[in-house]
Amino acid sequence: MKILKCIEDLIVYRNDLGSQEIGFVPTMGALHNGHASLIEKSRKQDNHTIVSIFVNPTQFGANEDLDKYPRTFEKDSILCEKLGVAAIFAPDPRDMYRKKDEITLNPPKSMANVYEGALRAGHFNGVLQVVLKLFSLIRPKRAYFGQKDAQQLLIIKRMVEDLFLDVEIVPCATKRDFDSLALSSRNIYLNQMERKNALQIPMALDLIKKMVDEGIRDSNRLILEAKKCIRDLELDYLDIVDYDLQRVSEVILGKSIVLIAARSGKTRLLDNLWL
Ligand code: PAF
Repeated sequence: MKILKCIEDLIVYRNDLGSQEIGFVPTMGALHNGHASLIEKSRKQDNHTIVSIFVNPTQFGANEDLDKYPRTFEKDSILCEKLGVAAIFAPDPRDMYRKKDEITLNPPKSMANVYEGALRAGHFNGVLQVVLKLFSLIRPKRAYFGQKDAQQLLIIKRMVEDLFLDVEIVPCATKRDFDSLALSSRNIYLNQMERKNALQIPMALDLIKKMVDEGIRDSNRLILEAKKCIRDLELDYLDIVDYDLQRVSEVILGKSIVLIAARSGKTRLLDNLWL
């Protein structure tokens, strides 16, 4: 497995691969089984899988955890090697952002100023900026994104459509821990009690799933019942939306997502349910 730490090395490596089909898994490191499932999916479909490990500064707000974000490069590279990754691209932020005042991208306000974007101003601008740079450098045939970050996934799909990018976005199902908590690099911050309380999130989603399976489609009713599960967390939002991230009054199967974000102690947790 190649470890490419600068853009010039990546360009040489990529040019050598020519027209081979490349699968790309963008990450910020601190890899867990959720990332492993994205890599495994790519390994089944693509000749070459490239993983990027880059804690992208432009998607963090001034008061967010950029410096504290877990950095576990050695462990991550062992996992990538084990999974058959062809190359890791792990650039320095100064290499990725060479100028002070770079061109940026604005996602549609209706998709980006709601939910995560309402609480993290500019977050999705930063995500799009780095993902577009990575796509340009790696030129993948397919790129793999977790459904856990539903808003991110939908906004990236929108960028691909709007900018006519030649890359297939492959959504990957959320991976859960033994206790049903969605895997996240931030779960390591939870103490025992916070972790126990955090399970109210998958409980709320399970309840909605059960009610929908019973035929209930009214969003208000589903949300009201699910909110009763969230007793020991600070709820940021719990809502049911369509793929344009607009609130829906009725669930339409195959077209609706339940979004939830809540804080257990100081840790913000995201989860969702694609109905
Ligand atoms: O989901 C993430 O880990 C990041 O937002 C991404 C897509 C790697 C961009 O920095």
